[in-house]
Amino acid sequence: MKKSVNVLLTSAAALALAGLASAAQASTPEAPAASSPTQVSVAQAQPEWARQDPAMDAFIADLMAKMTLQEKIGQLTLLTSDWESTGPTMREGYKQDIAAGRVGAIFNAYTADYTRELQRAAIEGTRLKIPLLFGYDVIHGHRTIFPISLGEAASWDLDAIEKSARVSALEATAEGIHWTFSPMVDISRDARWGRGSEGAGEDVFLGSEIARARVRGYQGDDLGAVDTLLATAKHFAAYGAAQAGRDYHTVDISERTLRDVYLPPFKAAVDEGVATFMTSFNEYDGVPASGSKYLLTDVLRHKWGFDGFVVTDYTSINEMVPHGYSKDLAQAGEQALNAGVDMDMQGAVFMENLARSVEEGRVDTTQIDQAVRRILEMKYRLGLFEDPYRYADNEREKATLYKPEFLEAARDVARKSMVLLKNEGDVLPLAAEAGRIAVIGPLGDSKPDMIGSWAAGGDRQTRPVTILEGIEARAGAGVSVEYAKGASYEFADAGKTDGFAEALALAEGSDVIVAAMGEKWDMTGEAASRTSLDLPGNQQALLEALVATGKPVVLVMLSGRPNSIGWADENVPAILHAWYPGTQGGHAVADVLFGDYNPSGKLPVTFPRNVGQVPIHYDMKNTGRPIELGAPGAKYVSRYLNTPNDPLYRFGYGLSYTTFTYSPATLSAASMGPGGSITASATITNTGDRAGEEVVQLYVRDLVGSVTRPVQELKGFEKIMLKPGESRTVSFTLTPADLAFTRADMSHGWEPGEFQLWIAPSSGAKASTPVTFTLTE
Ligand code: NOJ
Repeated sequence: MKKSVNVLLTSAAALALAGLASAAQASTPEAPAASSPTQVSVAQAQPEWARQDPAMDAFIADLMAKMTLQEKIGQLTLLTSDWESTGPTMREGYKQDIAAGRVGAIFNAYTADYTRELQRAAIEGTRLKIPLLFGYDVIHGHRTIFPISLGEAASWDLDAIEKSARVSALEATAEGIHWTFSPMVDISRDARWGRGSEGAGEDVFLGSEIARARVRGYQGDDLGAVDTLLATAKHFAAYGAAQAGRDYHTVDISERTLRDVYLPPFKAAVDEGVATFMTSFNEYDGVPASGSKYLLTDVLRHKWGFDGFVVTDYTSINEMVPHGYSKDLAQAGEQALNAGVDMDMQGAVFMENLARSVEEGRVDTTQIDQAVRRILEMKYRLGLFEDPYRYADNEREKATLYKPEFLEAARDVARKSMVLLKNEGDVLPLAAEAGRIAVIGPLGDSKPDMIGSWAAGGDRQTRPVTILEGIEARAGAGVSVEYAKGASYEFADAGKTDGFAEALALAEGSDVIVAAMGEKWDMTGEAASRTSLDLPGNQQALLEALVATGKPVVLVMLSGRPNSIGWADENVPAILHAWYPGTQGGHAVADVLFGDYNPSGKLPVTFPRNVGQVPIHYDMKNTGRPIELGAPGAKYVSRYLNTPNDPLYRFGYGLSYTTFTYSPATLSAASMGPGGSITASATITNTGDRAGEEVVQLYVRDLVGSVTRPVQELKGFEKIMLKPGESRTVSFTLTPADLAFTRADMSHGWEPGEFQLWIAPSSGAKASTPVTFTLTE
């Protein structure tokens, strides 16, 4: 795809999809030996930081010549500090390990003072004075917390997402951190899986664009600058496809699905120059990812040309034993290193076994040297050999954290992330003189919940602005704002009604009820899968009682996954999905509720009606018996007896306080050939009386393929601002490469034929009339 004036497209997804063309040839004997004109070739990455540096090469060669095998293995070892637990194990004595040169990197340690103290142990305590690398899960902010990653994705605003990552880098590096374990680029199509909250949702194209934006934000264009972080593309690969949505569970998907759905955001991150990769906990095709030579070497190194280093996830080498892939830890370490792992996170498997594996000839020292070199190069590029303490600067730390402009950015991204799901009778925006506002629900005044999971160094107890506080701060003089918790989100409290009477009394005396409900902050994130998507605890019962008062109810949902809120959709006039909006979340909610900000978010995931529809995503296949082919209620079509096929809310859906109309899409030509392109345009008009932003979306369907194709695929989007009455023409230019996929012979390319195209406000477009074009040979 070409960029044109009005268009936000890049060829990210196309390049990403292209990336496996030759992997296909490597792994499938039937793949064509020579490429055809329709085959899209691999774009090999060459980020700025990977440029040749003879001085660095000489320095590292000299250093490595002095290193013992044990010192080398130390560089391959990453251990957690005792500040925080982000996994099941803790290693006592990590400080002694540092001083003994047995560890090359530390995570879960920050602040200028603490990182300096640990760094000093490495520099002053070890023979070769090799500096430590400090990593941390800086996922959606470091101290100033932005909305959870899925929420940011709902903004469809790449500049805002990049800004969030940039602010994260500024704060984290000011506290001694060099490296973030972000972005998580796992595609997630199963709302049961808790970790969908950490990614960018279900879509390949959107996910790839967001992966790039985050890498840009963290790494900037100079890894050597003291205020940029190494980024990590994780979890490689297909972690989001865990069976039944249960975390760490088996993944069993086709090679085609791996290539067309799960890998493209990783390739996009490589193309953007991401410095590191993290393996995933799951197996792919029977092989745990940390032992997968196919993923870590054939795909990542040989086909994509990745130059950085690969770290495992937390003890995932050790876990190859219970997986049933390795007979003991020694074998697990050998398999991981030989597959292409460079650094062992927390498991100390390399530390404790690798030397013996070398002595016994099961590991080649060149493999170890290569991993050591990759890690030392990164330390060199960060400038740590020049000054190991350059990130531990108390003055900078003091001047940087929680800067007013960071808080303002967090508020801005938060309001951009919110999705207005329903607004019947224009209940929203609230009038400034709204009278008596009753804020009710367990999430109405809860600081810890505002920042969601994986909130890094974010203060959970005092800094976050709650919804109640945000509304109080905004409400005009003479407006009364009162709060009652009313219900609980704890699973164990289902059926209790303790707080209902107080909440209902408050509700009865109010003019409008803001019901703040959803999930507790740690009900999504790692190890937080659910088999129900309902509101947990006794919230549903309270919500029904609130609606029964006859007062207007606005439901503000805080959650990190799509919940099945079908009852609310039918009975509550207004619903705003606010994710976990971060440190400034309460202000951002108030900005939207009072109309100071006109909501513009669109769903990055499909919201199912109930858990039985899962997995559900907008780009499914048509099947041989699509429901549309049968008469209403027909039996022998692909449908459920008790639930419609359609989701509750579609991918790409979201309302505004204004309205937009779309002209029919037009095409620059009726067909395009191999070297050509086609431009699709539509004019969008703001037909309401408020200025507003609209995410204009481009969908395409390839009608017939050598393998079946999805009913629609997102191929572009642009977020535009229109004043009341204003119109703007948005154009998207496609080339054949944008229409490529993994074909029947596993080669990656496009196929001639007929295509349908929509320019639309959501993926609901597939019900409307498309324009068609032909891709010719
Ligand atoms: C396990 C998680 O899966 C991963 O995302 C995280 O980066 C590491 N723990 C480190 O905390």
